[in-house]
Amino acid sequence: MTQLKNDTFLRALLKQPVDYTPIWMMRQAGRYLPEYRATRARAGSFMGLCTSPDYATEVTLQPLERFPLDAAILFSDILTVPDAMGLGLYFAEGEGPKFERNLREESAVLALQPAPLEKLQYVFDAVSSIRKALNGRVPLIGFSGSPFTLACYMVEGGGSDDFRHIKGMLYSRPDLLHRILDVTATSVTAYLKAQIDAGAQAVQIFDTWGGALSHAAYKEFSLAYMQRIIAGLKREADGRRVPVIVFTKNGGQWLEDIAAIGADCVGLDWTTDIGQARARIGDKVALQGNFDPNALFGSPAAIEQEAGRILAAYGHGSGHVFNLGHGISQHANPEHAAALVAAVHQLSRQYHV
Ligand code: CP3
Repeated sequence: MTQLKNDTFLRALLKQPVDYTPIWMMRQAGRYLPEYRATRARAGSFMGLCTSPDYATEVTLQPLERFPLDAAILFSDILTVPDAMGLGLYFAEGEGPKFERNLREESAVLALQPAPLEKLQYVFDAVSSIRKALNGRVPLIGFSGSPFTLACYMVEGGGSDDFRHIKGMLYSRPDLLHRILDVTATSVTAYLKAQIDAGAQAVQIFDTWGGALSHAAYKEFSLAYMQRIIAGLKREADGRRVPVIVFTKNGGQWLEDIAAIGADCVGLDWTTDIGQARARIGDKVALQGNFDPNALFGSPAAIEQEAGRILAAYGHGSGHVFNLGHGISQHANPEHAAALVAAVHQLSRQYHV
């Protein structure tokens, strides 16, 4: 195994001493980069990128060629799992993801089975190919959606503004939703394990829609299933711990609960003060975030100031992975992303002496 040349990200996740605060950006490979748009045009479609290990490797590395980021993230999508469960994922131009079949009927829910891993082999092949191409430059992050977030897309049949179908099911037929979540959690556990076996050095669970649940429902329908996944993962590879990051968008009020499910790091969106978050969880786990992605629409000087504010709010010591509080906008200026990465690297050194 190649020795990691930059393990700052993995060290920060485990709260081990670092020289500076590491940074990566959610959705760092994507449409805001002209080189991504060019590769996507050659591949023909977004799924064309995901299903080809060569293209997936190329676009994963693109943001690293531009910015001195401290981690790479597998280029794929959370919806590959429901696709492999037979729902038929497609992307209608300008409309976001959609499924040919949804899970609104009881018969469809009862027929649901975990995804056969062979159908996701292209993802594991991409992981191995990216690891080879990185050659130890920075660690590679694998990922999955949370069962609840995946269920949102599966029940609704695509994205939604109000989640009325899944909420209707949650309140009137919780047994059906629990069956979907159970099958999906089993599937996600096997999927993440296979990514780790293929070479992922950390994994993140994206719970984009958990924060749309009521206070009472969050623990039962989202958190409990993420806890089950984490309990089922292998946490060591090549003699190193494989850290797990859990990110519930809009989950600021549940930080103590999220910090208690066995993850090494809790992701924050931009609505929480990271200093207060650190005080609340008592240094139990690391924190990731929490720069407002739309602050990238400010000037480079404003970006630097906002980055400095977040670093100061976290304060001294390891345990912070700098990131955006959600994915980077397709309209973001790459020069501004460069300014953010430089600012975090420079301004954070004073907190690690
Ligand atoms: O972070 C990375 O760079 C890795 C790649 C990645 C993508 N999607 C690529 C992508 C990751 C980690 C995701 C996760 C994902 N996908 C989430 C969870 C995180 C979040 O953003 O909340 C969700 C909810 C999805 C589902 C999804 N995929 C949506 C809603 C969309 C359409 C929205 C959009 O931005 O177009 C996608 C498509 C998608 N996934 C794109 C990319 C780069 C854009 C596709 C394109 O090139 O047109």
